[in-house]
Amino acid sequence: MKALLITGYGDVKDNLKFSQIDKPKIKENQVLVEVYAASTNPVDYKIIKGELKPIKKLDFPARIGYDVAGVVVEKGANVKDFNVGDEIFSRVSGMSPGTFAEFVAIDSELVCPKPKQLSLSGAASLPLVGVTTIQVFNEAHLKKGDKVLIHAGSGGIGTFAIQYAKSKGAYVYTTTSTKNVDWVKELGADRVIDYKKENYLDIAKEVDVVYDTLGDDYTYDAFKAIKKGGKVITLVGVMDKESAKELGLNWFYRFILSLKRIKINKEIKRKSAHYKFILMEPNKEQICEIKKLADDGFIKPVIDREYPFSEAIEALQYQKTGRAKGKIIIKVKE
Ligand SMILES: NC(=O)c1ccc[n+]([C@@H]2O[C@H](COP(=O)([O-])OP(=O)(O)OC[C@H]3O[C@@H](n4cnc5c(N)ncnc54)[C@H](OP(=O)(O)O)[C@@H]3O)[C@@H](O)[C@H]2O)c1
Repeated sequence: MKALLITGYGDVKDNLKFSQIDKPKIKENQVLVEVYAASTNPVDYKIIKGELKPIKKLDFPARIGYDVAGVVVEKGANVKDFNVGDEIFSRVSGMSPGTFAEFVAIDSELVCPKPKQLSLSGAASLPLVGVTTIQVFNEAHLKKGDKVLIHAGSGGIGTFAIQYAKSKGAYVYTTTSTKNVDWVKELGADRVIDYKKENYLDIAKEVDVVYDTLGDDYTYDAFKAIKKGGKVITLVGVMDKESAKELGLNWFYRFILSLKRIKINKEIKRKSAHYKFILMEPNKEQICEIKKLADDGFIKPVIDREYPFSEAIEALQYQKTGRAKGKIIIKVKE
């Protein structure tokens, strides 16, 4: 089968190639899925760059891609809840498990039926950003009436997070640049802050939760936006002590992180805040929750561009610009 492979650490354009490799053999608890659509995420190019080396080093050539929607073509002896021909979607587990390929083997514990109203491309756009967001807002114990600030409302995460937080009855502030303001408003955000013209810290005040998708100064400044006792949940900021331990980082990285945390710890104390770094874990219950939200009309995919499989490297290069308006799809099978 045809698969996109990572050949080494470095830049996207120099370290990816298409190859013919063996179709995966499934285990008793797995399904073999013919991939129709996959979506890209920033983690794909970060893995190629080597940013996830402290968590796990790759053996090259390595497969690439996490999100998938497709059709079950084979099932293991222990798989009871899926049949050949079922349309499914998933966020596959493991370090770069390889959804940018014609077939992928997936543990049935991570597979859910495709949302009824969505195309396979729409379904492939949701799992990673959706599960991440559910885990972030679970950590924040989001409740009706909470004021939340979601950074980068026009990104893959932001477009899902706005719709999800609204479905839970939150008041949503979000940031984006001028060109995206109008369509981001249509996702349901209560106050879209144009970061080219406005300072979000003058507008989003005393919020209950900041969903930090940008890191660096945005993480520190999040403590200015929250009320006393508020929560800052980050995807890209400095890792908290527990997360660093859980991820098995070695003593050197943990030491560097402890230095970086000095400033954050002062902010946490000053605001009696809850601070947590989330590294999403795939979770079937949450993938199926996304299906329900889509079936009930609370979540609509936001797709910026669709690329044919032959242009998957271009898709990743576009993802890397950091300017995507929602999600990017690779159409593996037309
Ligand atoms: N820890 C985890 O488990 C986890 C999970 C998922 C994602 N992540 C990370 O979360 C980050 C966001 O992911 P994503 O999928 O949303 O990325 P993305 O789709 O690439 O985000 C692109 C969007 O970011 C916006 N943006 C860039 N700079 C901005 C700024 N200063 N203020 C407001 N908006 C800005 C851009 O809008 P403009 O063009 O208008 O600026 C663009 O629409 C990535 O770093 C990703 O790796 C981590």
